[in-house]
Amino acid sequence: MHVCVVGGTGNISTSIVRRLLAQGHEVTIVNRGQRQPAPPGVCHLACDRQDRTAFEALMRRQRYDAVIDMICFNREDAASSCRAFADTGHFVMCSTVCTYGVDPDWFPVTEDHPLRPISDYGRNKAAADALFLEAYHRDGFPVTIVKPSTTYGPQLGLLRQAAWDYTWIDRVRQGRPIVVCGDGNALHQFMHVDDAAMGFVGLLGRRGCQGQTYNLVNRGFHTWADYHRTAMAVIGRQVELVGVPLDTLARFDIPGFGFCREISAHNSYYSGERLCRDVPEFRPVVGLEQGLAAVLAAMESQGRIPSADSVTWEDQVIAAQRAVGPPLPTA
Ligand SMILES: NC(=O)c1ccc[n+]([C@@H]2O[C@H](COP(=O)([O-])OP(=O)(O)OC[C@H]3O[C@@H](n4cnc5c(N)ncnc54)[C@H](OP(=O)(O)O)[C@@H]3O)[C@@H](O)[C@H]2O)c1
Repeated sequence: MHVCVVGGTGNISTSIVRRLLAQGHEVTIVNRGQRQPAPPGVCHLACDRQDRTAFEALMRRQRYDAVIDMICFNREDAASSCRAFADTGHFVMCSTVCTYGVDPDWFPVTEDHPLRPISDYGRNKAAADALFLEAYHRDGFPVTIVKPSTTYGPQLGLLRQAAWDYTWIDRVRQGRPIVVCGDGNALHQFMHVDDAAMGFVGLLGRRGCQGQTYNLVNRGFHTWADYHRTAMAVIGRQVELVGVPLDTLARFDIPGFGFCREISAHNSYYSGERLCRDVPEFRPVVGLEQGLAAVLAAMESQGRIPSADSVTWEDQVIAAQRAVGPPLPTA
């Protein structure tokens, strides 16, 4: 197949491109060329998709058997993709589980769950998905919607619960306690980018998957406390997890706190059974410890582990929590 990936050099899409090439597909990627060079064997088209006229004209020059759109974030992007790829055989939209919101009616959350997004990110993705599904039902636009949960890899780095922050790795190395939200036992699902690529690529060309929505998650879940203990095993040192209520955390000016407030503070547990059923080769293989070790090794080799020394919020939060009472117990 000739497959076009919109993006192609990002956190998830790098693995998608690698998998497509390994399976012998012809691959074209389209991006601005700002992030990293295209891998050998890939046709690179340089374009900013926000320049709608140029993007759509460039994409219409060629018919692709399949398209994976990794950077469609709202209804306008979606409408542009419908015009740009009107004649493709299969279009896969990368959406997100954030479209479901944070207060589910049942666990695990299945694809027929009501959509109650709480962030602009989730609302805009839901609006894009809706436009694609309207185009499917009205014009037969051959879309499949994919909703990944947290998908980590070497480009993203070693995540934490309390914020979008990587200084915690250095804190752990120094033996200093780290903050978790609440009792640290919010449920979460983590998928390695190579396993996510297996899901995206496995869908391509399956006509029965068109018009469908799929969660892209591992079976089961971890708590964030589990996650942190696994990550600390990989880092090589265990430190105290200090549980702090969400409301208390919100009173501090914590950089990157939106990730916690909108996502990681809440229980999230999604069902991946539909994708396992319809794409039999989708069988995630990367264990959490193995995946986190690879991510840490990549960060180390690229000198991407920031110092914790100039960061003050974490000690302030821990001191405030200790002043009002013992930290919330983590299991
Ligand atoms: N990681 C997660 O946990 C997670 C979970 C759920 C959903 N998602 C979804 O996954 C997608 C992100 O995928 P990813 O991780 O592979 O991407 P990414 O890391 O965000 O990389 C973005 C890619 O798109 C290109 N790009 C960015 N802006 C562009 C523009 N205006 N025009 C053309 N190209 C552009 C970048 O290259 P240049 O900068 O060179 O243009 C790069 O190739 C998003 O749709 C996100 O909502 C991620």
